[in-house]
Amino acid sequence: MPAEHFPFPPEPLGHVPAGCARRRESDPLGQVTLPSGDTVRLAVRYDDVAAVLSDPRFSRDLSKPGCPRLQPGADMSDDRDTLINMDPPRHTRVRRLVSRAFTVRSIEKWRPRIREIVHRLVDDMAAGPRPADLMSALAEPLPITVIAEILGVADGDLDRFRHWSYVAMSITPDMAEERARGRDEFFAYLADLVAQHRERPGTDLLDAMIEATEDGDRLSEAELCDTARSLLLAGHETTMTSIGRGMFRLLCEPAQYARLVADPGLVPSAVEETLRHDFPADVGFLRVATDDVELPSGAVRRGEGVMPLISSAHHDTAKFPDAGTFDIQRADNAHMAFGKGAHYCVGAHLARVQMQEAYDALVRAFPGLRLAVSPDSVVWKPDMMTHAIAELPLTW
Ligand code: HEM
Repeated sequence: MPAEHFPFPPEPLGHVPAGCARRRESDPLGQVTLPSGDTVRLAVRYDDVAAVLSDPRFSRDLSKPGCPRLQPGADMSDDRDTLINMDPPRHTRVRRLVSRAFTVRSIEKWRPRIREIVHRLVDDMAAGPRPADLMSALAEPLPITVIAEILGVADGDLDRFRHWSYVAMSITPDMAEERARGRDEFFAYLADLVAQHRERPGTDLLDAMIEATEDGDRLSEAELCDTARSLLLAGHETTMTSIGRGMFRLLCEPAQYARLVADPGLVPSAVEETLRHDFPADVGFLRVATDDVELPSGAVRRGEGVMPLISSAHHDTAKFPDAGTFDIQRADNAHMAFGKGAHYCVGAHLARVQMQEAYDALVRAFPGLRLAVSPDSVVWKPDMMTHAIAELPLTW
């Protein structure tokens, strides 16, 4: 029997595809066929996903001949100078240099500015007509504005950024050419930006990455451009999707929203529960086994591709007995929304700060916030790496 096609069709209301629950039960490392036509194993249980993410015998370098690919034609695996596609020792070296410019302390310095941006967007929303679309009012402009400011990108270039980000994150095979073109244009833009920063050094993140040194080591030109590009891509879609999906879930469960309004001190744990229950993607970053590996649910042979599915792991009742319940006061929330092991998300703290500030401002400004349409008529975006809401009409 041919392997089931993957990605699975989306479920209504952003629920994790039904095929995942079935596989967790009876086929935890079964095969799937990707849009490229390649067949890989799909890891759906929490323990297997955790093991694949953290075991260095699973490589992210898919550039070697014969390695499985997600897409036909150009896809994200082609960017060899980007962190998520590197293996040690190069990954260790570049990651250390990038992390020096991206510490929790340096991100916390941005919190007041992020709060200012959130408040401006929320004030505009409050002053505008009802219903308002939360995606265009806040979830979409916030992460792109923040990451562009942190990197030192001019306001006037934001629309081009949005386009490049959209084509890079699309998973429709017929956009392969556009993806390749977008990648080249984006790269040329960033090379120019790096050159400008070298000429006139400032104090933003790009300057810090240019300056970052360790034992005389520095990021190369290609590494700088690709890192900046991946920070923009990774930072934009995921955070936007998480804010939109989190507010959608909270408003589908008005008692949870009311609890947050009554006690905004619960915002950080509401953010963590959003990241667990509504992880923004039902696709994972593919790995290839460089050795035979024994996973908790079975063996993987050397050379086989494995896709770890974090959204499915978050709904594994062996780890979270009441996994389907959205509980903003959940204790011991050991989600893996930012990954695990060597590739753990560089932007985890930045994402948390933005989500926390967004939730906090919304519950304070709009205690009576509610969906302006029925939950099942909310429109979702098709064919993206992330599973995002296109429009979220709210009223108050
Ligand atoms: C809610 C928002 C976010 C989520 C859910 C998220 C999730 C993740 C996950 C799961 C990984 C690991 C993937 C894997 O190992 O397969 C990752 C890696 C990464 N993320 Fe995020 N991320 C978010 C926001 C951000 C932001 C804001 C940035 C930067 C501005 C960022 C930059 C990165 C980078 C550069 C990597 C690769 C790290 C490496 O390979 O060492 N992410 N992210």
